[in-house]
Amino acid sequence: MTLNESIHYHKNKLYVDSVSVTEIVQSVGTPVYIYSLRRALNNLERIKTAFTALDTHIHYSAKANANLTILRTLIEDGVGVDAVSGGEIFRALKAGVAPQNIVFAGVGKSESEIQFALEKGVGWFNVENVRELDFINYYAEDMGLSGIKIALRLNPDVTANTHPYIATGHGGAKFGLTATVIANVLKQQSQWINLDFRGLHIHIGSQLGDTLATQQAIQKALDLLAPYPNMKTLNIGGGMPAQYDSQAQLPSFEMFAHDIMPMLRDYTVLLEPGRSIIADAGILVGQVLYTKNQAAQHIAITDASMTELIRPALYQAKHEIVPVAENHSKTQVTQVVGPVCETADVLGRDIPLATLNEGDLVVALTAGAYGAVMSSNYNARPKPAEVVVAANGESWHVARRRETWEDLVAKEI
Ligand SMILES: Cc1ncc(COP(=O)(O)O)c(C=O)c1O
Repeated sequence: MTLNESIHYHKNKLYVDSVSVTEIVQSVGTPVYIYSLRRALNNLERIKTAFTALDTHIHYSAKANANLTILRTLIEDGVGVDAVSGGEIFRALKAGVAPQNIVFAGVGKSESEIQFALEKGVGWFNVENVRELDFINYYAEDMGLSGIKIALRLNPDVTANTHPYIATGHGGAKFGLTATVIANVLKQQSQWINLDFRGLHIHIGSQLGDTLATQQAIQKALDLLAPYPNMKTLNIGGGMPAQYDSQAQLPSFEMFAHDIMPMLRDYTVLLEPGRSIIADAGILVGQVLYTKNQAAQHIAITDASMTELIRPALYQAKHEIVPVAENHSKTQVTQVVGPVCETADVLGRDIPLATLNEGDLVVALTAGAYGAVMSSNYNARPKPAEVVVAANGESWHVARRRETWEDLVAKEI
């Protein structure tokens, strides 16, 4: 099981740090996301320590989990934020980040988002299109701004060891600029007079299974930077993996750092970790509504579904499913499904579980990243509450209240 010091059993009951999951559910109901701030901060600390030999700046990738309490906690611990939309910049600012500690990435920034980012004074633009440079330069001029820091995003044309839907560094992907385009832009950089070309950005994918493609991508970036001794920043994106499956052999933070740091000694390094900080700090708890035996399968239908955790349906991602009350009796292969009207609404396929009964609580582990942020109201399902267990491990609060049916119609005329 992919449990850890924060998500663990105590006397056969699941706890998040010192708080019983059952206690939270009794008060807040299901489905509910629960996050351990202690675990998130520990993960962050381990990343900081692993990269300590370099001049490293961490920008937490808000797309993984942009809950304000999560953002605030990580920002207070010293990180900046990697934002991919005006909305994420807005959230990051609300959470208290200094604008210069925001990197603004994204393959399709709108002109209004660029204006907003310039007005607010975001620190970096990770640029993925030559026209984007024109827009940033134009609006900077309009606002009397100059020296806007630019990192050109390289599409390094490497094959990341991950699921194809979360690989972003191969030639056919929509992300980044080719090496040829970047080389040309750098030769002509003086044409964008308000921009300061400081470095390059790469992000070859998420949940990376090894460091090989990252090393290849870094080498390609370094080759492009070689003629420009003043460009000394390399943003290497996110991608460090989370443990979804206890059997999987994945590179640790320490291994990642070990394998790439020797290449980066002369550089200021920006990191954009998301999943590796928050995934294993979060769980999604659902309650069994019904069970049935059908087509030679045992099916448990829970009130948690693909609308709260779409990763299994979208990426064939696997989340371990465990009961809140540990039960050591004989297991049977179980399909854990949600109530949404889609065959793809399966949280866990072929999961060995002791017989589940109506009312039992079950948990999808490692659900802190790309869970709540990718949730939807499909089937007019209100989004669940998000609960945060404080870094002291003892106190908890509802960081986002459960939506109501009224919320579902509130924006319609
Ligand atoms: C540009 C960029 N940076 C950082 C991240 C965060 O990646 P991860 O959550 O794998 O660390 C992503 C995720 O897709 C991304 O696209």
